[in-house]
Amino acid sequence: MSMILYEKDDAGIAWVTLNRPDVLNAMNMQMRDELWDLMHAVRDDPDVQAVIFKGAGDRAFSAGADISEFGTAPSYVESRRARRERDLWWFMLSMDELLVAAIQGYALGAGIELAMCCDLRIASDDAQVGLPEVSLGYIPSAGGTQTLPRHVPPGIAMQMILTGDPIDAEAALRHGLVQRVVPRDQLYEEAEALTRRGLERRPAEAIVLAKRAIRDGVELSLEQGITLESRLAALALASDQGKRGVKAAGASG
Ligand code: COA
Repeated sequence: MSMILYEKDDAGIAWVTLNRPDVLNAMNMQMRDELWDLMHAVRDDPDVQAVIFKGAGDRAFSAGADISEFGTAPSYVESRRARRERDLWWFMLSMDELLVAAIQGYALGAGIELAMCCDLRIASDDAQVGLPEVSLGYIPSAGGTQTLPRHVPPGIAMQMILTGDPIDAEAALRHGLVQRVVPRDQLYEEAEALTRRGLERRPAEAIVLAKRAIRDGVELSLEQGITLESRLAALALASDQGKRGVKAAGASG
């Protein structure tokens, strides 16, 4: 059975479904390997401009890494090598496509960590979001200790990681971890509408450059960030789409 379902529409939006509903879409090695291959295929497919991630079934986005696989790697060296050679999380963080997570129910451990590698997160009102690794004697290792404090205030990140206690959708919204909360039955419709809004009438190159400016800029000093923005703005203006857009705006203004 495939651990991932994949569909793409004519408007450049692809849906990726984490597909292990019986175990709350827990991520096992096979699922991570399938995601790794799929994300590379997405990057190479010029027709895909955005990806929406969701969980199969109705209980979870994903309950995190598959606990039943803990300690089953052939050796410590082997597991470190596999992780380095297939660093899914870092690959997702470096993608140019618009990545959106549509979170229902539980999003724990690697589940919310995957969502934090996306650009936008929309949650249903029943979402429960948390990083329980420390309670298992472990620490988040799908980027969570680094991505969480970049989304929420450091004190909240500290609280979530040190206690392992999940927060609900409203708290996630208040802290900026998700950008919208919607009723459960509207989640996928709203996620698609938000994604379409991100792509609509906007040249793909402008989206890519704006995303790079924000993503790479937050790691820089303000001065370096402004320099990066100027360089990317010049690239946007020099593109055919940029020239056409500026001309059209000038003609209508
Ligand atoms: N890995 C493997 N299997 C998991 C899983 C995970 N991370 N999370 C849930 N499952 C499985 C359960 O073992 C159970 O399987 P079973 O029906 O064969 O017994 C099934 O999913 C349903 O989960 P269950 O625990 O019965 O549901 P619940 O409503 O009582 O509790 C959770 C839901 C999410 C609170 C609970 O499943 C849980 O704490 N999961 C682990 C979360 C976690 O620690 N993730 C981070 C790992 S680093």
